[in-house]
Amino acid sequence: MKKKVYIKTFGCQMNENDSEKMLWLLSEEYEPVKAPSEADLILINTCSVREKPEYKVHSEVGRFKHLKKRKPHLILGITGCVAQQKGEALVKRFPFVDIVLGTQEFYRIKEAIKLVKKGKGPVVWTELKDSFNLPFVPPVRKLCSGVKAYVTIMQGCDNFCTYCIVPYVRGREVSRPPEEILKEVETLASYGIKEVMLLGQNVNSYGKKEKGFPSFAELLKMVAQIEGIWRVRFTTSHPKDLSDELIEVIAKEPKVCKHLHLPLQAGSNRVLKRMNRKYTLEDYLQKVEKLKKLCPEIALTTDIIVGFPGETEKDFEETLKALEKIRYHEIFSFKYSDRPFTAAQKFEDKVPEEEKEKRLDAVHKVQERITQEIYQSYVGKEVEVLVEGRSKKDPSMFMGRTSTNVIVNFIAALEEELIGTLVKVRVTSAGKHSLKGEFEEVIKS
Ligand code: 5AD
Ligand code: SF4
Repeated sequence: MKKKVYIKTFGCQMNENDSEKMLWLLSEEYEPVKAPSEADLILINTCSVREKPEYKVHSEVGRFKHLKKRKPHLILGITGCVAQQKGEALVKRFPFVDIVLGTQEFYRIKEAIKLVKKGKGPVVWTELKDSFNLPFVPPVRKLCSGVKAYVTIMQGCDNFCTYCIVPYVRGREVSRPPEEILKEVETLASYGIKEVMLLGQNVNSYGKKEKGFPSFAELLKMVAQIEGIWRVRFTTSHPKDLSDELIEVIAKEPKVCKHLHLPLQAGSNRVLKRMNRKYTLEDYLQKVEKLKKLCPEIALTTDIIVGFPGETEKDFEETLKALEKIRYHEIFSFKYSDRPFTAAQKFEDKVPEEEKEKRLDAVHKVQERITQEIYQSYVGKEVEVLVEGRSKKDPSMFMGRTSTNVIVNFIAALEEELIGTLVKVRVTSAGKHSLKGEFEEVIKS
């Protein structure tokens, strides 16, 4: 019988993908379970991008202390960004932790377990290299539903936005060779995967540092040509690297989804400059304008930080104005939080917590209205939905997404075969963050 592994993943899609990879690497010996109390191995894949998720990791690790007492053979590992950031300090603070693997070391998980079993723990590996060696991981069906899969194409970041810890915990930008990426996508297609999401901290600067690599736009076209793949998505893009060439590929290549996540962070040029974002609001608007002109159906989403040090009421209003102007489908908004190693941590003019709270509320209010207006505009229309599975809330319904990345739940008197097909759905109503509809017909299967 296989041993049991419980894995808890915090943070971004890159972490989700790394967790999938670890599960696959362990799959000969371990099978995943949903309850930590059943596990022989517990892995916490951590995020340190903001204070809150980092804090959550501490409470999570503490929670497993008593389990470890009851079950001495239980192995406890911490991976990901907090592991990278804290390294040895984690085992000092939590002496019952057996394994700490950084962002480029997680694929050595089996080796680490072996050492712990031999009594050679704790194992702490946190080296950051200029290249990375990513194992190919076939889709772990339990995690990706067998319809879509992540493909990491680059990692790390060279931008050093003044609030951001990522360059310190994910290292410098490194791109994977295009042949490897294409082979991986072809293999995924042969497993029946229909949609791939290309991942990187900064996907659109793919290949800029490596000699002879295609540009991101060229890579996107190559991936879109792979037979069996119907949809291609990618995240995250930096506005400064959104080239005309890329805008054209998004607009013209039918398999490239009509959705772009383009973090704006703030609407004030003064704040953007202090954030070291390397664009002005006008640069950003110009690119968005170009994209909307060539691709009117494009859906935009973004990240916003409120209360960056020195952000005045007037600066903040520029952010609200930008939201009204750009009209994002959805936004992810955060209160600024100090992160170790970053430049902004040392800025003196911090915004008080209550003020950040107030600004976050204001952002939510404005955006909720815009999202509602946009979602309402889908009602009565027919949309193409790639069916991912059953709706979590109501398993009598199917769930999928439009090319614009809007979640659609719909009723269909059909069997499971619908999962993995592209269907036409008539939208009947709009919820807060999803649409409801009725199945019309299968377009592609
Ligand atoms: N404080 C608040 N939000 C942050 N983000 C990154 N660093 C911080 C920070 N120190 C946000 C940015 C980024 C998203 C992933 O997290 O908006 O795009
Ligand atoms: Fe962080 Fe900026 Fe790099 Fe994004 S581009 S990962 S926000 S440093």
